[in-house]
Amino acid sequence: MNKSTAALPKAWRFLNYIYLLMGLLALAGGIWVAFEVQLKMTGGEGSSEREARAPLGSGLMFDAVAKHYDRMNKLMSLGLDQSWRWFLIEGLELQEGDKVLDLATGTADVAVLAAEAFLARNWTGGQVWGIDPSAGMLRIGEEKIAAKGLGSVVRLTLGDAQAMGEVASDSVDKISMSFGIRNVEDRLSALKEMARVLKKSPASRVGILEFQLPQAGPLRWVAEFMVRRGARADAEKGRRGG
Ligand SMILES: C[S@@+](CC[C@H](N)C(=O)[O-])C[C@H]1O[C@@H](n2cnc3c(N)ncnc32)[C@H](O)[C@@H]1O
Repeated sequence: MNKSTAALPKAWRFLNYIYLLMGLLALAGGIWVAFEVQLKMTGGEGSSEREARAPLGSGLMFDAVAKHYDRMNKLMSLGLDQSWRWFLIEGLELQEGDKVLDLATGTADVAVLAAEAFLARNWTGGQVWGIDPSAGMLRIGEEKIAAKGLGSVVRLTLGDAQAMGEVASDSVDKISMSFGIRNVEDRLSALKEMARVLKKSPASRVGILEFQLPQAGPLRWVAEFMVRRGARADAEKGRRGG
């Protein structure tokens, strides 16, 4: 073996270290961006002054992250978020012709899944109405609905789960809400509104999908870290009178 070929593996190893270092830096950067977006989504530290002062139901906070929301969801759930939404849809036990109200619809993932569930079974007459206070999130939802040709089944409007004057009493068969109840300040009002608009029938269902703290392991540490940061930001906001 001559000198130049003997040196080759060393150079390769060095290059591998460089690649590994670059990979780790990219991963750390990705996780940092995800944290910042998540903190904005929960109204914590890192939100701008204007967003921090916005009432939770106003939609301003989610307008600020709407562009990145779907990507962050995939990243932070390791691609599992859509399967969790499927569980929610299954729990609704949809029937032909159901009127579904998707609260905090955001970028309309649940609304789209409900519509696709109707179409997959060749059911007609089913309708999905998505409501959310964030125009930015709804805009992305509209694009999704148009791209999938679901405009005749799904409609999205601006609205607040705490006061749904636009939804008639006893008019919907199923209500869904995924990752939204935590953003509602007055949950009792939202629950009362759900009870008002839901048809009083044994087939009616309300499905609320939400996270809970992991019970153990590294995910629990990450969650606790984020909750503590969020709580500190809330306390700070309170001190400032926001
Ligand atoms: C984390 S996102 C969830 C979006 C979507 N449901 C999903 O599964 O990805 C929370 C959504 O709740 C909405 N939201 C905040 N306050 C609300 C309220 N009072 N009533 C209805 N939706 C609200 C936000 O605008 C945001 O789009």
